[in-house]
Parts: sequence; C-alpha cells; structure tokens
Amino acid sequence: MAMKAPASSSYVLLAPLALLLVAAVVFLLPSLNGAHVGSDGLGVDLCARRSAGAGAEGYTVLAKEEEEEKEKPELSLLVGVLTTPKRYERRDIVRLAYTLQPAAARARVDVRFVFCRVEDPVDRQLVALEAMRHGDVVELACEENMNHGKTHAYLSSVPRLFAADPYDYVMKTDDDTYLRVAALVDELRRKPRDDVYLGYGYAMGGQPMPFMHGMGYVVSWDVASWVSTAEEILARNDTEGPEDLMVGKWLNLAGRGRNRYDLKPRMYDLSWDMDNFRPDTIAVHTLKDNRRWAAAFSYFNVTAGIKPHHLP
Ligand SMILES: *[C@@H]1O[C@H](CO)[C@@H](O)[C@H](O)[C@H]1NC(C)=O
Ligand SMILES: *[C@@H]1O[C@H](CO)[C@@H](O)[C@H](O)[C@H]1NC(C)=O
Repeated sequence: MAMKAPASSSYVLLAPLALLLVAAVVFLLPSLNGAHVGSDGLGVDLCARRSAGAGAEGYTVLAKEEEEEKEKPELSLLVGVLTTPKRYERRDIVRLAYTLQPAAARARVDVRFVFCRVEDPVDRQLVALEAMRHGDVVELACEENMNHGKTHAYLSSVPRLFAADPYDYVMKTDDDTYLRVAALVDELRRKPRDDVYLGYGYAMGGQPMPFMHGMGYVVSWDVASWVSTAEEILARNDTEGPEDLMVGKWLNLAGRGRNRYDLKPRMYDLSWDMDNFRPDTIAVHTLKDNRRWAAAFSYFNVTAGIKPHHLP
C-alpha cells in the first residue's frame, strides 16, 4: 500500500486523458475487497469491523458468511466526501455519522474520503494511518483546491478506479453535509440507472436546466464515465470555476444528465438558528462546526439509544 504521489503537478488539469492512467492513487486497504463482497451496509462500517478483526484470514471468513446471507443489492452507490487532509477531527465525526447510520436495505453503499495529493509529510503519515485503519481514503492526482478541478478529478477517476466493480451511482458530497444514506437510496430505487443527475436543484439564468448544489449530488455511472472521457470540458477550461455550477454546465452543453431530479426541500442548508431540521431529510448542509453536528445527531436521535452507566 505504497502512498505514492505522482511527481509533477496539475496533471489532471493539463492532460488528463493520458495521465489519468496514473492520476489516482487509492488506498485500497481492507475495505475495497471487503466492500465488494456484496455488503449491503455502509462500506465504512464493514471496513471498521474487518479492520478490528483478527487478521487476513478472519476477514475472508467473515466476508464469505456475509455474502451468503445478503440478498443481491438493487443498486449500488459510491459516496465521495471531498475533504482535505488536515481536517482530521471533522473526518472523524463524518466517518462516525456514516458508520452509525442504519444500513440501506438491498443496496451496496461505499463511502470514501477524497483528497488531492497529500503533500505535507506529517499528513502523509497520519493519513496513511487512517487508510490502514479504515481503508476509506482516496488520493487523487491534483493539487488541493475546491474550484480548480478537484470535482473533475474525482468524477473522472472513479470510472477507472472502480472499473472492476462499477457502481450504479456516484455521489459527490462535502464534509459539512450530513447525508442520510437510507433516505437517499430509497429515492434512487425508483429512478432510472442511466443519465441521472440528482440533488438540490438550483436554477441559473441562461441555463436550460438546473444544476445541483455542491452540498451533494448524484450522477449515474454512465455520466461519470462520460465526464472521464469528455475532452471538451478541458478544452473549454471548464474545470475552473464553482464546481457545482460547472458540472451543470458540462452536462447541459452535452445534453447529459437529462434524468434530472431536484430533491428540495429534503436537501437544505441548516439555518443560523438550527431550527429548520426536517424528519424526512436526505441531506442537511452547512454543518460547519461541532455544535451544528451535535444538533444534527440530537435531532435525528442518533445517540438516543445510549444508556447512561452509573458507577456503583
Ligand atoms: C485555458 O487556460 C489556459 C491557462 O490559463 C489558457 O492559456 C487558455 O487560453 C485557456 N483556454 C480557453 C479556451 O479559455
Ligand atoms: C426522535 O425521537 C422522538 C421520540 O421518540 C420522536 O418523536 C421523533 O420523531 C424522532 N425524530 C426523528 C427525526 O426521527
């Protein structure tokens, strides 16, 4: 599991098609094997349990048993949480938020934390530990950024990274979004598996169709595959700019993502006063500090089942 970083910068922006062959480095620690064995829970959860197990042989046995007892999934979803290496505390909270959710029935859902290259030597060590423990980290060959091509690097790397076992849907979300995976999966069950672009729709002047807000959006696998080969996006420098708006522009210009679904009001920004949570939430965004995460866990009864223990 070498953490290898391509030597020169800006591959993805400058010459992605050839260089994408080396553009992404993934920490495929126990999770990928595990998660591809027909899990129907969240990948992170499975990873954690496997990592905590006795060793490689233990994993194999557990995976086989799980495979036998699971029904065939109706759909599969890769959730990429775009974050940056130094956000350890946030990532911890987000990872727990995913791990402790009830699994989505009859679905294969894997969650990965996505960075550009981890340059800092200290971060390389610490992120390597996370990768060893959780196996849920993906490092892309880009320089860390938000609106200079990271989303493009992500969407265009995924089809190749997971070519052996593609997902039906690929999601991009952020580390200030609390995503309720089962609610999203239930929404996706009834949707087509092709040409999908779904999220919090945002109409922009001049654009024929809404784009999806960066808090979290889903494209079907064919759309991600198209992005990975669409030279026109790069020729127009359309990786530069607000990432969510740009994704909408690529798809609009190419006539892609025509199965477009706006999940407002079930996706929303949390208000300043934190008083607009709703029980049917799919995703709530702007959880920018621990207080707001705590409010979300409280509202959604995440910790409600825990019993107090009193010392004798
Ligand atoms: C894209 O950006 C590069 C570098 O900034 C610039 O040289 C080039 O002219 C731009 N191309 C277009 C089509 O805007
Ligand atoms: C949380 O639990 C309370 C008490 O059981 C219940 O009334 C409420 O609907 C639950 N909230 C959500 C979001 O499920």
